Amino acid sequence: MTKKIEAIIREEKLNDIKDALHAIGIVGMNISEVRGHGRQGGITLVGRTGTYQVDMLPRIQLNIVLSDKNVERTIEAICGAAKTGNIGDGIIFVYPVDEVVRIRTGERGHEALMYEGDIDTLPVQE
Ligand SMILES: Nc1ncnc2c1ncn2[C@@H]1O[C@H](COP(=O)(O)OP(=O)(O)OP(=O)(O)O)[C@@H](O)[C@H]1O
Ligand SMILES: [Mg+2]
Repeated sequence: MTKKIEAIIREEKLNDIKDALHAIGIVGMNISEVRGHGRQGGITLVGRTGTYQVDMLPRIQLNIVLSDKNVERTIEAICGAAKTGNIGDGIIFVYPVDEVVRIRTGERGHEALMYEGDIDTLPVQE
């Protein structure tokens, strides 16, 4: 089974998280800038004219599509690098992926996720 990990992380943690992912052999990934909030609903800031509420805070969304068997290790790597222990550290969603197509070659599924040295080409490490 192929899965997609969608991690919403602090912008300032992106480099540490990328390093942690490269260290375990994650090659393919993409990111986008997103705005949102979790349980706290944003933050209250103090300005010259009083306080105001920022409800949609900037975060990075990091997407990785990979084999089921590597999902837990990848979650551990992300959490290890992303956690400060303070509120707003982020959240991780895992989804099933129906299909992957590499456009250049027409490769499908697991074949399309094989990169030289990638975690998916390595035996599972416990
Ligand atoms: N249920 C959700 N659906 C979609 N995006 C979410 C959801 N919850 C949080 N997010 C996204 O994750 C980001 C980080 O959320 P946040 O870390 O504040 O989660 P939390 O559940 O409130 O945890 P904490 O208590 O540590 O703050 C948000 O800015 C938002 O972009
Ligand atoms: Mg929160």
